[in-house]
Amino acid sequence: MLSSMELTQALSSFYQNLEELYRLRCVDALIGWDQQVFMPPNASQGRAEQQETLGKLIHQRFTAKDFVTLVQRLHDNFPSLNADDQVNVRETKRHLDRALKLPDEFVAEKTKITSLTFSAWTKARAANDFASVKPLLEKIVELSRKEAELIGYEEHPYDALLDAYEPYAKLSQVRPMLLSLAQRIQTILPEIEKRYSKVPEIQGDFQEDKQVALNRKVAGALGYDFAAGRLDPTHHPFMTSIGAEDVRICTRFNKRNYASALYATIHETGHALYELGLPPKWKGTPLGSAVSLGIHESQSRLWENLVGRSQPFCSYLHSLLEEFYPELAKGQSVMDLWRSVNRVRRTLIRVEADEVSYSLHVVIRLLLEERLISGQLKVADLPAAWNEQYRTILNLEPPDNKDGVLQDVHWFGGMIGYFPTYALGNIYGAALFERAREQIQDLDAQIAQGKFSTLLTWLRENVHAHGMRFRAEELVSRVTGRTPSIEPFMNYLENKFLKEAGV
Ligand code: CO
Repeated sequence: MLSSMELTQALSSFYQNLEELYRLRCVDALIGWDQQVFMPPNASQGRAEQQETLGKLIHQRFTAKDFVTLVQRLHDNFPSLNADDQVNVRETKRHLDRALKLPDEFVAEKTKITSLTFSAWTKARAANDFASVKPLLEKIVELSRKEAELIGYEEHPYDALLDAYEPYAKLSQVRPMLLSLAQRIQTILPEIEKRYSKVPEIQGDFQEDKQVALNRKVAGALGYDFAAGRLDPTHHPFMTSIGAEDVRICTRFNKRNYASALYATIHETGHALYELGLPPKWKGTPLGSAVSLGIHESQSRLWENLVGRSQPFCSYLHSLLEEFYPELAKGQSVMDLWRSVNRVRRTLIRVEADEVSYSLHVVIRLLLEERLISGQLKVADLPAAWNEQYRTILNLEPPDNKDGVLQDVHWFGGMIGYFPTYALGNIYGAALFERAREQIQDLDAQIAQGKFSTLLTWLRENVHAHGMRFRAEELVSRVTGRTPSIEPFMNYLENKFLKEAGV
């Protein structure tokens, strides 16, 4: 047992270490952001080297003997710690245990193979050539299976991988939840498609500078602070946190369709608002970090879909279109606008999917990943298995591997176990929003007026302020007073697309 003075010293050293690691991670995030946004093409080799060194440095500092001993000592004195310190020690130890189970040679090999596979995938996808990337993907699956064995698991090797993205989640809970979600969606999808699939696609000529102004206006209205962030164009929309007061978003502009960038911006703004809402006094510690990718995604989807694709929001958006695109606004009612951003039509491509069928794409990937990791499915049989799942679950026939198994970066980027977090985001987001609606009486009226601060404050107090204090499920249960289930999400879809007068 440590004396109280020793404990104070140990804690102060613990937090100083976390702070320094955090600063290094912020620099890593900054050069990663630059790589995707502004870096000149010839800098890519040099940047990769800088990232490699920085990554190694962060890993070495995090797993340094002194720090490991320090965390272990604090953990041994767990009952003497206050509640806040307990969370930070508990989660840091968890993270550290995971990192220590992976030998340096393993991490180096996975990094190398992942980088090779990623480049091979970009070419294979463009050429519709699965065979060229197959041996590397086999290697990724093999390394992921090895990783699961190194990390260890109680029930299923997949759990060890899922845990990296959704701490504490288990296949035995996630799988049945997502399967019943898929079943329920499949039941209502034909009727919803009958009503919403023929909505014409938005087609026009939208100059990028004007789109930027519209996107900035909406992100700002939602509560995004441009003094603590920026919005830049890129190939793939993303958000990155470079500091407690430096959280940046990127979006992709489509000259033909203003809604494409706008909804990507709203999505990334949702992620950014979460990062900016984490308690600044705990920055760099678990109490100042996001719970999980599922909870992160619940925030982005809440703003993008539950708020952004609602009728009240469309009435606010219509008033903005009057200002930005008066001709467009004149030609359509609020309901026309609402329909134009709520087209529901099954597609082969996950990132183009509507909010109803989206989760089906996730379930397909979960079922395939699980079998790849358990060894029941060979990479050689993956394209056929993929197509089979699309036939069974979405009743679509992928014409080729480009729009089939090669469409997503995740597996080729070494990320197996990531996909379920997208569907969990839908489920958690709907549960949280249902509760917010119960507690904020005139939420719709506020949204219609472009006032989002009550909702943002509610999210900050109920979700953001806690950092990693609670597990994802625990957090949702506490906020909603109910065990997380698919019901709020299903109720939302059914009310929106089948009960309310929309068409
Ligand atoms: Co997201």
